Amino acid sequence: MTEVSTDGGLSEATLAELRQIAARYPQPRSGLLPMLHLVQATQGRVTSEGIEACAEILDISTADVSGVATFYTMYKRRPVGDYHVGVCTNTLCAVMGGDAIFERLKEHLDVGNDETTDDGRITLEHIECNAACDYAPVMMVNWEFMDNMTPESARQLVDDLREGTEVRSTRGPRIATWREVERVLAGFPDDRVDEGPAAGPASLVGLEVARRRGWTAPSTETAGAVGSPADSATEAAEQADTSRAESETKQESDTEQQKGGQDD
Ligand code: FES
Repeated sequence: MTEVSTDGGLSEATLAELRQIAARYPQPRSGLLPMLHLVQATQGRVTSEGIEACAEILDISTADVSGVATFYTMYKRRPVGDYHVGVCTNTLCAVMGGDAIFERLKEHLDVGNDETTDDGRITLEHIECNAACDYAPVMMVNWEFMDNMTPESARQLVDDLREGTEVRSTRGPRIATWREVERVLAGFPDDRVDEGPAAGPASLVGLEVARRRGWTAPSTETAGAVGSPADSATEAAEQADTSRAESETKQESDTEQQKGGQDD
């Protein structure tokens, strides 16, 4: 494992871009997330200097900025290598081979979780469900999907990345470096958005079945007639109230009859 070096201070050009991001929003603080991505694009991680710059531009406290930067897992306080390689080890991917892939990569790269290889090329991290379970086990490289992986294809993937061989996402573009992708996440496009398919076949199976069988989504009016969960909950509560009231009335009636019998 090695510590990846970070750039020097934030340049005037970067500070101007941070202000540009803040100006995109009616409430400037809404720009904090992309601003933090720009800090990562420039410095390889969320630095103290980056936190202070964001706080000053947005006129909020550094604690506010730190709270956001430490809450979301896409923000890194430690330097990241050229390629952030995530292995999904959530339930479905884990049983489909994600755990085996992660173990194989740890051994092959000689790093632990959230550590970077000595050449500064790969940072390995186990990640949570990517909402891509139909392609389990999945990996991500700089947040682009790599589907239906195996321990062997994962090893080949990281070797290609380290050697500089061009790698393409299964459902996305050519893989760019961590800092390049962070700049895109800050809202500065790299013109690769149209590379790769919009959706893979496994994600479209349900749609095809629906088309074959002539299924359509209910119209708004029909959906209203069926009732929302909130409506159902209200109906259930009213039904429970009615039942309780009927039960209490019956108990009172029985008591009255018993009393009447005793008086007789
Ligand atoms: S469990 Fe891995 S993508 Fe859902």
